[in-house]
Parts: sequence; structure tokens; C-alpha cells
Amino acid sequence: MTSRESNKITILAIETSCDETAISVVEAQSDSFDVLSHVVHSQIDVHKEYGGVFPTLAKREHGLNLMPVLIEALKKANLYEKAQDLDIPPDIINSLERNPELQESVKTLLPTIHAPEVDYIAVTEGPGLEPALWAGITFAQALGKLWNKPVLPVNHMEGHIASTLLSSKKIEFPALAILVSGGHTELVLAQSWGTYQIIGKTLDDAVGEAFDKVARLMDLPYPGGPEISQRAHAHRQKKDESNHFSLPRPMIHSGNLDFSFSGLKTAVRYALEKEEVTDEIRLMMSREFEDAVTETLVSKTLSALDEHPVKTFILAGGVSANTHLKKELQQNLEGRYPNISFLVPEQHLSTDNATMIALAAYTHIQNNDIPERDIVARGNLRIDS
Ligand code: KG4
Ligand code: ZN
Repeated sequence: MTSRESNKITILAIETSCDETAISVVEAQSDSFDVLSHVVHSQIDVHKEYGGVFPTLAKREHGLNLMPVLIEALKKANLYEKAQDLDIPPDIINSLERNPELQESVKTLLPTIHAPEVDYIAVTEGPGLEPALWAGITFAQALGKLWNKPVLPVNHMEGHIASTLLSSKKIEFPALAILVSGGHTELVLAQSWGTYQIIGKTLDDAVGEAFDKVARLMDLPYPGGPEISQRAHAHRQKKDESNHFSLPRPMIHSGNLDFSFSGLKTAVRYALEKEEVTDEIRLMMSREFEDAVTETLVSKTLSALDEHPVKTFILAGGVSANTHLKKELQQNLEGRYPNISFLVPEQHLSTDNATMIALAAYTHIQNNDIPERDIVARGNLRIDS
């Protein structure tokens, strides 16, 4: 064991890639973790009226929320110590000039906190909405400079994989991950932390995006995943499970590991155009849509596992909160590959949060992979780059 592994490391992590302003403090020692605080401030109510996330609005909201969320996270972690009017060097304040809300809030609130006892600051550098990512990055860099702490860039999708580090089972490599979120649908083969290959991906919409768009077609609010999932469940509980919708299972026989969900969404639109969208229709369509998506994801996962022998299978990303998908993947996996262990994050770690960013940062620290480079927002950052 290296001296670093035998020591406790405290990581303060910041996540702003989309519509959650999230900060967590995680203490790590060897491979055990203590989540000292986990704060997620959702902007859902702000974006609801647009039916999706509006990037410049997300940036502004992060600017307003980052300081209060930081204070809450430090208080919960017992790392908050009040200060009186500390001096913040002007270059640090100036570095925030592109986000006036953040600059103002930092000017007012940062002088009221003493530097907390953390070893590292971790921040999401991508993928995500660039204006939103920049808010978190400039904030992390300002804190790093003021408190003299190293700032580590983290890939958001690697964060989703790392969210399963808190599960009771260990990740053994090689591992296959299916990452399903609002922006991504990909099958990732991992040989170790940091060594990834994308072996299948969506050619158009991500699966979470399809849930959101189909929800919108049925006049259901954003985000659509939970709305549809709840209705699909209600339909499954009914005595009469009949359904007059029948949707395609896209690319299920394509012979490769890629996905496509935009045609499925179009099929939903055509089917609904012939209907008056009543609550009963919503139940039936939600059920059929969730079944179509689940069957497709299960089928591609099994094909990927047939081609790539692994020890661990990971389901992660916002859509991994979907109970039906979790259950079907687990049952099919146990049936065909009983020796592969199945890992899925707990519900509160499925959707975006900063605990997963701290956990991913920890894997880098353990590998001594601490890049000394400028951190910039990388909207299209790939996990295999
Ligand atoms: O990972 P995430 O929080 O943000 C991104 O990185 O994109 O994923 C958000 C996505 C949204 O599209 C949302 O509708 C979907 O995850 N989602 C769900 C469920 N909960 C969230 N989709 C299906 N079923 C759910 N229960
Ligand atoms: Zn995400």
C-alpha cells in the first residue's frame, strides 16, 4: 500500500454540466468512502416551461446557486467555519467576470468562509452544456486559487460509472457499462479506471432525450423519464393490460451495438396524431414506449456481453433510475451470465450529482493521474479521449 492509499483524502466536488448545481464532500480511504455531504440544487422548475434545458439560463442559475450550495455542503460536512470579511484578491474576482451572478455572489459570500480542510477540488469539465460547465469550472478554479488546493478535471460520464463505487459490490475489470442519460446512450468497455472504449452508441437521440420528447408529445412535464415510468408502471398493475399501441424495437436486428431512438419518437408522434390524448392513452403509450426502449437496451447489452467477456456490468446515468429497466437488465443478465456482477447506483446517485464526480476524481488520484493543465469546458468530451 502506498502512503497515499493509507491516508484519508477529502475531495470537494462540483458538478454543473446541465441543470443541477451540485456539490459534495467525500472522504476516501483505500476503497471505502464516506459521503460527508451531497447537495443537489435542481433547476427543473426554471426549465420546465421550455420543455428542456436552456443553456444560458442554466449558466445564470448556476451562478446564483453555487455559493449557497457550497455553504450548505460545507455545513453538512462539518467543514464550515465562519470568517469576517476575508480579503479576496482582485484577480480571483476578475476571473469570474463572464458570469456576473456568480461574481456578485462570490464577492458577497466567499469572504465569510475560512478555507475548509479538503485536499482536492474536483470539477466536471465535460461533456455537457458549455456555458453551464464554465460556471462550475471558473468557480472551482477561483476556490482552488484562494484556498491553494489542486483542481482536478473530471469527465461527467466517468462520474456516472464511478457512482457505483458506493454499491456493496466491487467493480472488477474488465467491465461493461451501459451509460444512459439525457445526452448519452453508450456501451463502454472498461479495462481499468481511465481505459475506455465505446463499443456502441446512439446514432441520434439519447434514450433520456427520447423519454423527455415523448413525454412532451403527451403534454407531460420535463423531465419526462419519471413521468413515463410512473405511468408504464400503473399500466402494468392494471387487470386489463391490453394496449392498442405497438412500437418498433429500433435497430434490434442491426447486427451491431449502435442505437437509434429518433425513429421511435417519430412513431410515437404518428400514433398519437390519430388519438385524443387522454389519461388512458398516456398509460398505454408510456407502457409501450418503456417496453420498446427496455427491450432494445437489454438486447444490445446481451449482444455486447456475448462479444466481450467481462466480470462486471454497470448500468448508470439518469435513465438508470428507471425501475423497469433495472429489473429487466438484471433478470436477463442473471439468466444468461450468472457470474457477471450487476452494479447500478442507488436512486439518488443515478441522476446528476457531485458525489459521483468526487468518486471519479478519487480513481485518478489513486492512479497518480493529476493533470497540470488549464481546465476548459469541453461540451463534447468523449469518455475514450
Ligand atoms: O444523467 P442525467 O441526470 O443528466 C444527464 O447527464 O443527461 O440524466 C437525465 C435524464 C433525463 O432525460 C430524464 O428524463 C432521465 O434521465 N430519467 C429517467 C428516469 N429518471 C430520470 N428516464 C427514465 N426513467 C426514469 N425513472
Ligand atoms: Zn449525467
